[in-house]
Amino acid sequence: MTSTSIHGMWSSRLAFILAATGSAVGLGNIWRFPYVAGQNGGGAFVLVYVLCVALIGVPIMIAEIMLGRRGRQSPINTMRALASAQGASSAWQLLGWMGILAGFLILSFYSVVAGWTLAYIFRAAGGGFTGLDAEQSNAIFLALVADPERLLAWHTIFMGMVMMVVARGVASGLEQAVRFLMPALFLLLLVMVVYAAQAGDFQAGLSYLFKPDFGQLLEGGGDAILSAMGQAFFSLSLGMGAIMIYGSYLSSQASISQNVAIIAVMDTLVALLAGLAIFPIVFAYGLEPGEGPGLIFHTLPVAFGQMPGGQFFGLLFFVLLMFAAWTSAISLLEPIVAWLVEHRSISRVRAAVWAGVTVWLLGIACLLSLNVWSGLTLFDKGILDLFDYVTANVLLPLGGLLIAIFAGWVLKTTVSRDELGATNGQLLYQLWRLLVRFIAPAAVVLVFLNAIGLI
Ligand code: PHE
Repeated sequence: MTSTSIHGMWSSRLAFILAATGSAVGLGNIWRFPYVAGQNGGGAFVLVYVLCVALIGVPIMIAEIMLGRRGRQSPINTMRALASAQGASSAWQLLGWMGILAGFLILSFYSVVAGWTLAYIFRAAGGGFTGLDAEQSNAIFLALVADPERLLAWHTIFMGMVMMVVARGVASGLEQAVRFLMPALFLLLLVMVVYAAQAGDFQAGLSYLFKPDFGQLLEGGGDAILSAMGQAFFSLSLGMGAIMIYGSYLSSQASISQNVAIIAVMDTLVALLAGLAIFPIVFAYGLEPGEGPGLIFHTLPVAFGQMPGGQFFGLLFFVLLMFAAWTSAISLLEPIVAWLVEHRSISRVRAAVWAGVTVWLLGIACLLSLNVWSGLTLFDKGILDLFDYVTANVLLPLGGLLIAIFAGWVLKTTVSRDELGATNGQLLYQLWRLLVRFIAPAAVVLVFLNAIGLI
């Protein structure tokens, strides 16, 4: 197997951690986590989510990075090459294809939501949140999503930004951005939590997030548990090849497991901090935790409107959220672009434009589902909600399941030991094997069966 990728390499181990954390930390942590936690009753959901991160997410992330680094190509070709090297069926490349599909679908709605963030940057800068009450804040959000032209403009700008970076190659450019922005986002979230602790109903927020009420969880049938697992996959960027392709740019010397530990902890911390910043405000203002995808766009402007320096903090918050979304979106497009470059031997620029325009078109369907096409529903969900639900709760866990099976059962132990720099008897390696061979696949299958009511 080769030791470098034709698409470029990270300049250092730090660069990889930054890029992978940039992929993981995004709208999934700050927009999706609070709203899905709110829809599923809080505490018990959060507990199941954290368990899923530790027992399913971490071992699968190690596996996904390992496969990427071993294959050093786009996920489709990596799976094809690895399968043939193990004498396994070439059908394993389907995993890569599923990832491409998931990438298209996720990025199409992701970009629309990132567009909301862009819109809010300008509103915050213009002092648009000052003195806002909950009702006015809601009206602002509803007016935005009811306006297809504004949504289209922001969606177009965001996709343009994503294509620009991917066209230039992710290994350059991305690094600098993430190095400063990630710590800044972290700090600002801390400021928000401190504000929420003083001005919001912190007690209620804390117990909502951390006091598990299993009655609530069970009431939702298996769906709440499936949503917690789906959120873990979504938030860690697992199961669709994003982390795999980032792994393919990682040097052979770097330790995969150490990096994964750092990335998973940071990602989970950011999600929990976001929850701690938002729910105290939700309860202090009598808002509805389960209101859905508008939650942070409805809640936070009220906080910014009341807090001292709120115009500045609000602006900073939405700018940082936009950057977080940007670095995640880049990783969603990258596997598709790498595959186009390999398969069609076209330039990176052309590949980025083709893939980006396809996503952009799908995104138009998503944004229209919020207004003009709002009557068009399947399983009671509009297009945007459907893409969100199906990718996180079905496609990503399914991709993760296949990754675990491949890494645990198909890949020879000599290969995984070599990639993980382990000796056979080593405890951590054995623990990883146990998780990736038995625990993680069994958990994913059980959660699926439970959700469709079979157990
Ligand atoms: N992890 C990203 C987030 O939390 C979203 C993402 C999902 C990115 C899947 C890549 C792959 O926002």
